[in-house]
Amino acid sequence: MAWYDGQHRKLPWRAPPGELAAPYHVWLSEIMLQQTVVKTVIPYYQHFLQRWPSVEALAAAELDQVLHAWQGLGYYARARNLHKCAQVVVAEHGGAFPDTEAGLLALPGIGPYTAAAIAAIAFGQAASPVDGNIERVVARLHGVTAALPGAKGELRRLAAGLTPKLRAGDHAQALMDLGATICLPRAPQCERCPLHRTCQGRQQGIAADLPRRLAKAPRPTRYGVAFCLFDEAGRLLLRRRPERGLLGGMMEVPSTPWREAIWQRQEVEAFAPLATRWRSLPGTVSHTFTHFHLEMTVQTGAGSRPAMGGEIWQAPVALADLALPTVIKKVLRHGLTAF
Ligand code: ADE
Repeated sequence: MAWYDGQHRKLPWRAPPGELAAPYHVWLSEIMLQQTVVKTVIPYYQHFLQRWPSVEALAAAELDQVLHAWQGLGYYARARNLHKCAQVVVAEHGGAFPDTEAGLLALPGIGPYTAAAIAAIAFGQAASPVDGNIERVVARLHGVTAALPGAKGELRRLAAGLTPKLRAGDHAQALMDLGATICLPRAPQCERCPLHRTCQGRQQGIAADLPRRLAKAPRPTRYGVAFCLFDEAGRLLLRRRPERGLLGGMMEVPSTPWREAIWQRQEVEAFAPLATRWRSLPGTVSHTFTHFHLEMTVQTGAGSRPAMGGEIWQAPVALADLALPTVIKKVLRHGLTAF
C-alpha cells in the first residue's frame, strides 16, 4: 500500500489513495477497460463523462448516440449493455449503484471481475477482482506452479487471502499497477518491485515462467470468401454481425460462412450479396482469433441494391468513422487497393 500511495498511476477515474471514487466513474471505466488497454480508454472516458456527467444523463441518452461515441472501443454489445445498465440503475435503483458484489453482478454487462472491482474501488468492500494481470502477480508472489486454467480457483483464493478489510479498492488497483508496470508478462522488473523480498517466484528464480499454462489445443484453420461490393457512387456494402458470438454487433463485409473446408468456386455464389460478375483477387488475408486461424480470399464486384436489415452503403472515405474489426480492415486493405 505504501508503494501504491507513492507510485500509483494517475488515472482520471481514480480517487486519491485512501478515498473512494464515485460509483458512476468506476463503473464506466471498468466497462471500458474490459478487453481494452488504459491508454486507449482515457480519451473515451473523458469524452463520455463530459457528455453524460451522471448515470441519469447516460440513461436518458439515445442508444445510437452512445454507440457512436463508443466507436473505436469495439464490441458494441458492451456499449448496449452499458446503456441498458444505466437505465436499470436509474429505473430500479433510484440512480444509485448497488454497493455489494451480488447486487452489481445482477446488472447488465457486469461479470464477476467487474462486480468485485466496483465493490472494492467505489464502495470499499473487501472484494478481490482477479483478471489475467492479477493472476500473474499472485501466481508469482505465491510461487504457484500449477497451470492455468486449472489453477484459476487457487489463484482466486490466494488473491482473496491478500485482500485487506481496509482500502480493498486501493489494494486491487495496486495489484493492477504492479501487473501493468513491474510484474510484466515476459520480463518482470523484480529489482523495482515492492514485493521483491516476499515473492516466491523471484526467490525460486521462476517468476518469468509463471503463471504456467497448459499447452493450448492447436488452432484449426477456417476458410471464408469475402465480398467487396461497390455501387456506382463507389460506396461499399457492409452489414452488421449478429449481436451474440464472435465480433458481436460489429460491421463486416458480406462473406461466406467461415468453415474448415476450402470453398469451391461454384459453392460461393450462393453467399454473394448480389448476382454480378465477381472478380477473385489474388492472394489471401490471414487473421488469427483466439480459437481459430482464418484464411480469406476476397472477391470484388460492382452493382447496387437497397440495403436490407443491418446493412449500410458506406463511402470508402467514411470507413474510418466505423469501428471495424481488424480482420475486416485487412480485407478492405486487400480489396480496396486492388479495386
Ligand atoms: N484495469 C481494469 N480496471 C482498472 C483500474 N481501475 N485501474 C487500472 N487498470 C485497470
